[in-house]
This record gives sequence, structure tokens and C-alpha cells, in this order.
Amino acid sequence: MAGRISFILDGRVQEIDGVDPNTTVLEWLRGPGGRRGTKEGCAEGDCGACTVVVSTPDAAGGLSCRAVNACIRPVATLDGCELATIESLAGADGALHPAQQAMVECHGSQCGFCTPGFVMSLCAMLHDATPPGDEATLRALAGNLCRCTGYRPILAAAQRMRELPPAGLDLSSDAAPRRARLEALAGAGGLRYVAGGRRWFAPRDLAELDAALAEAPGAVLVAGATDLGLEITKKHARLDAMVSLADVAELRGVRDDGAILDIGAAATWAEAHAKLAMLWPGLDELVARFAGLQVRNVATIGGNLANASPIGDGAPMLLALDAELELWRAGRARRVALDRFFLGYRRTALEPGEVIARIRVPKPRPGARVAAYKASRRIDSDIAATCACFALELDAGGRVAACRIAYGGMAAVPLRLPAVEAIATGSRWDAALDARMVEALGAAMRPIDDLRASAAYRRRVAAALWLRFAAEQRDGAPRARTRADG
Ligand SMILES: Cc1cc2nc3c(=O)[nH]c(=O)nc-3n(C[C@H](O)[C@H](O)[C@H](O)COP(=O)(O)OP(=O)(O)OC[C@H]3O[C@@H](n4cnc5c(N)ncnc54)[C@H](O)[C@@H]3O)c2cc1C
Ligand code: FES
Ligand code: FES
Repeated sequence: MAGRISFILDGRVQEIDGVDPNTTVLEWLRGPGGRRGTKEGCAEGDCGACTVVVSTPDAAGGLSCRAVNACIRPVATLDGCELATIESLAGADGALHPAQQAMVECHGSQCGFCTPGFVMSLCAMLHDATPPGDEATLRALAGNLCRCTGYRPILAAAQRMRELPPAGLDLSSDAAPRRARLEALAGAGGLRYVAGGRRWFAPRDLAELDAALAEAPGAVLVAGATDLGLEITKKHARLDAMVSLADVAELRGVRDDGAILDIGAAATWAEAHAKLAMLWPGLDELVARFAGLQVRNVATIGGNLANASPIGDGAPMLLALDAELELWRAGRARRVALDRFFLGYRRTALEPGEVIARIRVPKPRPGARVAAYKASRRIDSDIAATCACFALELDAGGRVAACRIAYGGMAAVPLRLPAVEAIATGSRWDAALDARMVEALGAAMRPIDDLRASAAYRRRVAAALWLRFAAEQRDGAPRARTRADG
């Protein structure tokens, strides 16, 4: 394992040594990196002012260029990556990048504090061919906040930049040589970086992971750092040893494995989104409303389950899909059904040093009805007050052959409700069943009562979501209105 953090910035290799691994990319940029164009708004992944673009080799042999939040990303995660900041965009002749030029022409900036972040998100959109149109743009920009413009001029800029000639940084050009350079930079083994006695390990496979955890048994595991980063920026934790799971080959990728969708624990929500939505279209909106794109681009599915938050979106979805986890520790793998994984408030079946390696999800049987709903104060980038996921299988006679119901925000742990599921199983799926389900759901819930919603509100919404599911999936009601409907 090599000892320095090496990455490419504006075509040049940049090496970092002697910087505490608890340092964020944003702290490094605005400090030793000398680049103050990237702004700090919230330091918790919410506002997007710190957005930068990070490129890495992808599974298809090209480069993946993604907008990410610099404020909660540890600087060591840049190792083997190509970084672009707002300073990278304009051409050597001063010509503005289309995202910059369009923001100027459409008056997309007022006080300007959010502008570098919006421009970097727009730049990533141009590269990844986000389709035109306000809904796709709003989804891509949901992780960027602006207090001044009212967003309309920024939406106009997102449209206008597509009409402008290329200028400045082109993230789509020279992908093959850029990729080859990154691969050469990364070398064969993972990173072992030490500064001021604090250690960061980025193993490349399970053998290196086991070795890192043997050397630093109490090390904190880190994947996308979208939960852990806040421990550092908000709670001022200083972690002595961290082991990154993001590069461990066996934990990566989303594989179609016959009857199973086999998701690597280090796969990001952005990576899994299309496959989840293709198999279960009723999950699309929930995944699209999981944080903003900058968070989804790095936040992993394994991290979401391991943190065991009762209000996380991933657990209800994967509980209702009957997922099973493959866990790994020191050369030994075991499997645990997800409905046996959550033991108490933020307590899981993971043993010390054990990692979630993969998440195995049975693919839907023909005729399965699956939908997930998130009730939150804001549509975009908000944590759920209540999250519900329903999965029904019907027999040829229209009776419920199997029913799985899972909720977030309704207890100290993500909740599966076998007693309520049993009421549905074997019954005809009709209005009479709805009435019994609403009563049973109300009785089964002991919701949490917190700043996001009262217990009484949560109980009512939880039952109402079953009715919405029935209306949409059985009675053919259109999917309830969202922002896309205006
Ligand atoms: C602005 C913002 C918005 C958010 N919005 C949402 C939202 O809408 N819905 C939602 O559910 N969450 C949301 N989150 C929370 C967070 O993004 C998710 O929980 C995310 O999936 C965590 O994954 P990660 O890879 O970033 O985990 P990390 O932060 O890297 O790790 C989280 C925890 O899991 C452990 N861990 C990570 N991977 C593994 C593994 N494979 N095996 C064992 N332990 C592991 C780590 O040690 C750590 O304790 C949001 C976070 C932010 C900052
Ligand atoms: S500073 Fe707000 S998202 Fe990073
Ligand atoms: S222009 Fe002021 S916050 Fe966006």
C-alpha cells in the first residue's frame, strides 16, 4: 500500500502528505490547496455550495464524472481521482464554460454565494447527458440551494448551456488517456496513509481489508462518508484510524444474478438507482428523493443500512423487498435476513470489525405490486417523517398470496409488520381489506415523536399511505401529484 494521497487537478498530479485524514476536501481546497472559489455554506451536505466534480474509472471502461459535496468528503478519498473545481472551468483564453456563460446570460446569480456550486452541478449535468426539461434538471439540482434567485433563472441557464458552443473544461473529452493516467496513478495496491499518527486505509480487496482491520482493530469503517463526515464537521470528532470500503472490489457493483439483484454494499444510491427503478418502478421516486444528487453520488447502500437510522429510506425499501445481507469478517462470510439485522436503536447484528459485503434482493415475481412513499416537509433533499414500502403478490384469483410492509420513522428501528401482513395474506385485495388494514396499522404503530412530525401525524400518514398504495396500484388512480405536475 502506498503512502501519499495522489490525484489529478487541472491536468497535473497533486500529492498530499502530512495532512490529517480527518481533513475534508473543502478544508484542503480552501486552505493548503489555495482554491477559495468553492464555498462552505452548511458543512453538512445540504446546500451544495461546496460542489466539485470528481472523475474515476467506471465499470464500462470509461470515466464517471460526478458532482459531489467537498464539505463532508475526507481528502484521502481523492486518491486515484481527477478533481475539477470552479477554477478548472474557464478556458486558458478566459472563455467561460457553457455552464458559466449561461448563468451570466440568464441572470442565474445574485449574491453569488451558491453560484460556484450550481455551476459545478450544471457542468456535471452537461457531461452525464441529463435530459433537458425542468423535472430532470430539478432532480439533478435538488442538492443545490439558492436564497436569492427563486431558481427560475437557474433553470433557464440549465437549458441555455446546451445551446452554447463548447468552451473551457470538457469532461467528456480524452476519456481513454485520462482513465489510463488515473489507473497508473492508483497503482496496484490500496492506500495506507498516515499523518500526525492518524491512519487512513483504502484497501482494494477483502484480503487487504482484513489486513487493515488486523492492523487497526478499532478503526472506523467509512464508505461514502455522508453520515460519518458530519461526525467530523459538526461534532468535531477526530478519528484516529479509518478504513475506507469504497474501493474494495468485492463490495462494489450491482449484479443481475438470475433471480437475485446482488448489490455491493459499497454501491452508491446513484449507481443502483436505474436498476432498482427498472425492476421496481414504484421505488423510483423514493430513490430520486434520497438526499440530493451530490449525496447519492457517494452515499452507499451498505452505509445506509449499517447506520441503522430509524428514519433512513433504504431499510423500509429493502425490508419490503425481503433482502438478505452477506456479512464479512476476517475471511468468514455469513448471511443474515435484513428483518433480523436491526436489533435496537442504531444497533445491528454486525459484530465488531464485521462489514456488510453485499445485499441480495429477490427479483419481483410476475404481477408483484411494489411502491414506496416518503412523507417529508420538503420534496427535495429532506429526511422522511415517515417512509413506507409495500410489496404484494397476488394469486390468479386476485387474493393476496404474499404481503410485506415496512416503515421508517415509526419506531426506534426500521419496522416490518408481520402481524399486519398476516391480515392481508389470503384475503381478497379490496376496500374491505383496506378498512381492516387501516385499523390494524393504527393499532400496530408506536411512532416516534420528534421535530420532524408528531406521533399522531405519523400514525395517520402511515395508514393513509396504504390507502394511496391501494388507490394507485389496484384502482388505477394516477400517481399522486408531485412537483413534476406543477
Ligand atoms: C445532506 C444529506 C441528506 C441525506 N438524506 C438522506 C435521505 O434522504 N435518506 C436517507 O436514508 N439518508 C439520508 N442521508 C444519510 C446518508 O446519506 C445515508 O445514510 C447514506 O446511505 C450513508 O452511506 P455512506 O456510504 O455515506 O455511509 P458512511 O457515512 O460512510 O457510513 C455510515 C455508517 O455505516 C458504517 N458503514 C458504512 N459502510 C459499511 C459497511 N459496508 N459495513 C459495515 N458498516 C458500514 C460506517 O462505519 C458508519 O458508521 C443524508 C445525508 C446527508 C448528508
Ligand atoms: S457546504 Fe453545504 S453542502 Fe457542502
Ligand atoms: S445567488 Fe445568492 S444564494 Fe444563490
